[in-house]
Amino acid sequence: MTLRPFLAMAAVLAAGCAAPDLPELPTGSTNALIPLPAQVEVDSTQQKVELRGVTWEIAASWQDSIGCASDWVFPAGEPRGPKPTPIRISQAPGYPKEGYALRVADGAISVEASTAAGAFRGLTTLRQLAPADCERPGRCPDGWSLPALHIVDAPQYGHRGLLLDVCRHFMEVEFVEQVLDGLALHKFNTLHWHLTEDQGWRIQIDAYPELTETGAWRIEDDGSTHGGFYTKEDIRHLVEYAAQRHITIIPEIELPGHSRAALAAYPELGCTGEALPVPNDWGVYKDIYCAGNEQTFAFLEQVLTEVLELFPSEYIHIGGDEAPKVRWEACAKCQHRMHTHDLPDAHALQSYFIGRIGDWLAERGRKIIGWDEILEGGLPEGATVQSWRGLDGARTAIASGHDAILSPTSHCYLDYPLEATDLEEVYGFNPGEVTGGPGRVLGGEVNLWSEHAPQHLVESKVYPRATAFAEVMWTAPEQHDFEGFLDRLDAHYDRMDRMGIDYGLETVPVEMTAEVTPTGALQVRVDPAMRGVSGVAGFVLKGAQQSDTLHAWGETFTVEGEGQIMTEVEHRFRLLTSPPRFPVAGHLGLTAPTVQIDHALNPYYPGGGERGLVDGLLGSEDFRDGRWQAVSGEDMAVYLSWPEPVYIDSITFHTYLYQNAWIFNPAFIEVQWCVNGSDVWEAVEITPEAPLARNDKQGLERWSAPVHSPAWAVRVELKNPGRCPAWHDAATEPTWMFMDEVVVHGRPRP
Ligand code: ACM
Ligand code: ZN
Repeated sequence: MTLRPFLAMAAVLAAGCAAPDLPELPTGSTNALIPLPAQVEVDSTQQKVELRGVTWEIAASWQDSIGCASDWVFPAGEPRGPKPTPIRISQAPGYPKEGYALRVADGAISVEASTAAGAFRGLTTLRQLAPADCERPGRCPDGWSLPALHIVDAPQYGHRGLLLDVCRHFMEVEFVEQVLDGLALHKFNTLHWHLTEDQGWRIQIDAYPELTETGAWRIEDDGSTHGGFYTKEDIRHLVEYAAQRHITIIPEIELPGHSRAALAAYPELGCTGEALPVPNDWGVYKDIYCAGNEQTFAFLEQVLTEVLELFPSEYIHIGGDEAPKVRWEACAKCQHRMHTHDLPDAHALQSYFIGRIGDWLAERGRKIIGWDEILEGGLPEGATVQSWRGLDGARTAIASGHDAILSPTSHCYLDYPLEATDLEEVYGFNPGEVTGGPGRVLGGEVNLWSEHAPQHLVESKVYPRATAFAEVMWTAPEQHDFEGFLDRLDAHYDRMDRMGIDYGLETVPVEMTAEVTPTGALQVRVDPAMRGVSGVAGFVLKGAQQSDTLHAWGETFTVEGEGQIMTEVEHRFRLLTSPPRFPVAGHLGLTAPTVQIDHALNPYYPGGGERGLVDGLLGSEDFRDGRWQAVSGEDMAVYLSWPEPVYIDSITFHTYLYQNAWIFNPAFIEVQWCVNGSDVWEAVEITPEAPLARNDKQGLERWSAPVHSPAWAVRVELKNPGRCPAWHDAATEPTWMFMDEVVVHGRPRP
């Protein structure tokens, strides 16, 4: 289904693909600096300096030369012009670790810092002052100028990172290089490299070859194989590539949970010893490393020995999140360990596990970082907590003298859709909320979990949101200003375009608003929700190929029937391949003056409130889209009535099915209609097939009741199927049911 055959927009797209002459930011302008430096003084009345032939491959190698050099002059590029401007890089005491001063004055450019990292950050600022075309080999103008300026700068936080999950989807070495290039541009200093997971083990370990022979590959539902791993040579190369950009790679070797790929390779490391495949589905698995088996520790120590040889990082991330304890509870070896070590419960056993690995690493001069679950059962000495389930984990850690890294799901999860976490949300993150001590907040990370991000989608999820995070972590909070940031981002996009960064959107680009008139007509309009987007909207009736009429944004139009509001959206020379669409229905139910629900509105899924099941808005495939109404452990019913009879052909609606999220089909559905205005009702009963049997489907279920009758009122009831069944991870917990809209098909008069 499309809005229309692509015409004018397609031409724009083609132009975009052909690397057009993109608009240029004024040379020497500070309007594209991200993150915003602490102090910027520009004196455009002063003499400008002219640079020639600088390329950023050279910039990357500058740091090699400056290492410990106290004074080093870089002749910018090849001396093609008569007199290239030298760039003087000097070491001077007094600058914070990554701080620097950049000065352009008297025909010279100088960078001063106390560390090579600081000088590199200063050069990155200089890079952002250069024409964007300097990002493209051979395209940098022969000469470009800078006004006199003085920038003094240093980051607020010493740990500024991105978590890259290369396990759920494997990513090529060249792609990881590109990720590092993007991080360097934004002055990040940490790549948190998530290398082991349930769905794939990605690091070569010589002593345990099955980890990559078996554990790096999974069979997808369609029979294809997905996987890959990094050889030691790959890893050494990437560690070095990162170091050249003053980025530390912190490897994450998950334990004791998220370890199914390792158990697929070496089943004896699990509590049951059962041979299980590398899973191809997302979630949290019960099978984890056995904490009672000495072999587990011998294995992990050998793995970590080889990890330490590859990664010079002071910190090693050991995971620690989402480790269900059911296997440990039922395992004789784990129970024996708890008994002999006087451990009161399975949380204490996890604490023992993490503590033992932490001690082993500490003896080798390394420190551990773990997800905030490592607080449960007691925090090992010297551990740093990465707080993801909100910020309380960080508060608890620093109160007990431990350090913390902030990655709350509320602001830092780049795998979340823009509906949940958009650019403004990320920019609004306030790490200063975590106060107290005696521990410290080291900084923060944005996380790119890749369940739904194969390599080709990663950059569109990371950017521009990571750009906002870079500023949050680097720039002082009193300088944060979202509008100003957006202005700089507009110019910064020019640079990302030249670097080939396939950034995504800042937010859901358009907004659809719908209103039901007093006579029951559904009126909608679509408006842009971010800068720099343009396009059209139209209603496409269910089953139709395209819209009859296209509407400009801001134009109100009436929807009759069930279908979708489709949009065409262009952002910066690119036509979006999956523009927003909004399922809607203009239908007879909207003309009913009385609508009542029998169930209580759930605060998380109110789905439009009392009239939400009869408001013209249908649910999308995302059950968190705000259009779904849901109940937990209850029945659900909605009643609507008219003062005069109407004629109903049929009633349709959707429920949602996603058993992993405890959302089940109803036990049965009853659709009733009143044929005499008081007590005579007819009904259709629908019995979904085995609602508590395992069903892997995730998505909409459509139900339809034929009516073909005059009616004064309608009642639709969904019976709850009961508690989660024995086979389910949440056995005995209440089940959820979701419903979107009761669509009444028919006409106003019998
Ligand atoms: C996490 O997102 N499970 C740390
Ligand atoms: Zn065990």
